[in-house]
Amino acid sequence: MSTPPDSDAATRYGVVSRLFHWLTALLIFLMIPAGIAMTSEGFEEISDTIFVFHKGTGTVLLVLVVLRLGWRFTHSPPPPAPGMTALQARLADWTHTFLYLLLLVMTVSGYVRVVGDGFPIELLDWLGIPTLLPEMPELAQRMSVVHKFTAYLFTATIAAHIAAAIHHGISKGDGVLGRMWPPIGGDR
Ligand code: HEM
Ligand code: HEM
Repeated sequence: MSTPPDSDAATRYGVVSRLFHWLTALLIFLMIPAGIAMTSEGFEEISDTIFVFHKGTGTVLLVLVVLRLGWRFTHSPPPPAPGMTALQARLADWTHTFLYLLLLVMTVSGYVRVVGDGFPIELLDWLGIPTLLPEMPELAQRMSVVHKFTAYLFTATIAAHIAAAIHHGISKGDGVLGRMWPPIGGDR
């Protein structure tokens, strides 16, 4: 089944996709340092506050990822950028699919780790949204390991993704960066 195109003139991602991309990226750039700080020595005085931020923002990201995937499955992306070889286009495709998978694993493992051990997610309590899962301490502990391990893999994959985007944008100047340029601040 073909889905409506999500692209401006079929050359770049549409505004909704670009908003999802940059909102997600911004939150992740806050989440990774927050996760490292709150689990490190030297931050004890503010670690409770960072935990509240990390759990709340992480849950917002979980909802965003589900909405984003829903949008992605119902709107075709632009065709591969001209000048990309078939292999480059396939590699980019795999990396993007892997990034979506890691986003899901990070957010779901974080949620199950916290709720399964009976800890609160203050933002949800504040909004009056009930806990969706029963307490499962054993699974929660396993999810804690999954969360930590995936955080390394996620960080490395994001670094490779950004390096590729910068290589295309600065060294090659082939317009790939412009396909996902934020919908504010002019074109690229
Ligand atoms: C994309 C989203 C997320 C990212 C990038 C992220 C990143 C991280 C990082 C880098 C750490 C430190 C890992 C370490 O100890 O070495 C961490 C720990 C942690 N995160 Fe997340 N996180 C995300 C989502 C969530 C969510 C949704 C929750 C809960 C609702 C959560 C709860 C926790 C908790 C409780 C820890 C402390 C480690 C533990 O006790 O298992 N995270 N996170
Ligand atoms: C946390 C950080 C990031 C994540 C998780 C992420 C994730 C993704 C994903 C999943 C896609 C595929 C979109 C789709 O087809 O549905 C994508 C595309 C793209 N991203 Fe990112 N991204 C991040 C940061 C960045 C940054 C900082 C840049 C720029 C320096 C960037 C540049 C691009 C570009 C240019 C594309 C389009 C590639 C193409 O046309 O094939 N991303 N990103």
